[in-house]
Amino acid sequence: MKLIISFWVFLLCISLLAQSEPERIILNLTETPSNSIAVTWRNYVKSSQPRTQILQASVSPVKDLSLSASYNADTDSVLIDSVNIVYTYSVVISDLVPGKKYAYRVGDADSWSEWNHFSTADTEFENTRFTYFGDVQNDILSQGSRVIREAYKTSPNSAFFLFGGDLVTDGLDDSLWGELFESGGWIFRTMPVIAAAGNHEYRGPDNSITKLWRPTFTFPENGVDLLPETCYKIKYNNVLIIILDSKGPLDLQAEWLDKTLAESSAKWKVICFHYPVYSIARGRDNTELREIMLPVIDKHEVDLVLNGHDHAFGRTFPLRNNELVHTGERGTIYLTSVAGTKQYELNSTFKKLHEVMMDNLQAFHIIEFSGDSMEILSYGADGELIDSIKADK
Ligand SMILES: [Fe+2]
Ligand SMILES: [Fe+2]
Repeated sequence: MKLIISFWVFLLCISLLAQSEPERIILNLTETPSNSIAVTWRNYVKSSQPRTQILQASVSPVKDLSLSASYNADTDSVLIDSVNIVYTYSVVISDLVPGKKYAYRVGDADSWSEWNHFSTADTEFENTRFTYFGDVQNDILSQGSRVIREAYKTSPNSAFFLFGGDLVTDGLDDSLWGELFESGGWIFRTMPVIAAAGNHEYRGPDNSITKLWRPTFTFPENGVDLLPETCYKIKYNNVLIIILDSKGPLDLQAEWLDKTLAESSAKWKVICFHYPVYSIARGRDNTELREIMLPVIDKHEVDLVLNGHDHAFGRTFPLRNNELVHTGERGTIYLTSVAGTKQYELNSTFKKLHEVMMDNLQAFHIIEFSGDSMEILSYGADGELIDSIKADK
């Protein structure tokens, strides 16, 4: 009898230990990536003192542990289905040095993650490169994961991943978010992620953002007040990145966008939101979006607009006022893409504005701002280059 009880106690201990292990660890960019970064994770047993330990990367973070700083996490909880609660933790690590590599781990005294590395933005460095994905959305683990992993192999030195919305097909389905995290695996722990919200993340009451969005990520809250963590800005060295929420009120966002762009001294300006300005598929046309946002985009000579939603790939010529710019003039490039398996047929409504339109593919894009030029390299899921453009300032 004693033996049986001991066995069950042993099993209970193993189970509690597994449930207290940090999972879904992800780095997110803050407003100022040169001196801070955000980390989010979760587990199934509430941690007593959840925190992040961090120090500059060295031969042994364990031997150098006394040099580490400790940041206490904010704790939250969320019901992920009809019965199960998870505990979520987020930390914004500040006071970092620009252009340095750091090692960090998350957890508490009972259960720590592995040590992971990341680098802060280097303010001395003129180049900024990042990787963009359209909708992952469907068959996330079975066929989307290879796109994420191929993108990492193609450009392991990208500063961050940017997702353009519809990361999952049902934002309330926790298992789909699980697939996304399994797809990103340790990459999400070492390369920061930012994302725009898509319509498939709008699954809350009254068609609001899913309750899983904010516990999953820690994005800046520096945009329109009504849209915390779905409308925000980040200055990454020479590039201002603005994330808008195409399901949110457009007039408020246009006003905020106008002010934000006017105040920015960034050399390059990039905007990302889910619905395309120039739709490429399915007879769609987001006229209201174009009417409200285009005057602001044109006024401030935004360099690049990144969209998703249409489940195909399109890249325009440089445009202004809905037309191709003349040779030597500056214009905005609009790129719409898809990373997942769901595919729509192309339509020809805006074909004349596009230099390339492709359907039936899964893609990712490496975008680099260097000196006076912006280069966009587009790849298929197999890592083959399918399109490239270089635009000079
Ligand atoms: Fe969508
Ligand atoms: Fe979609």
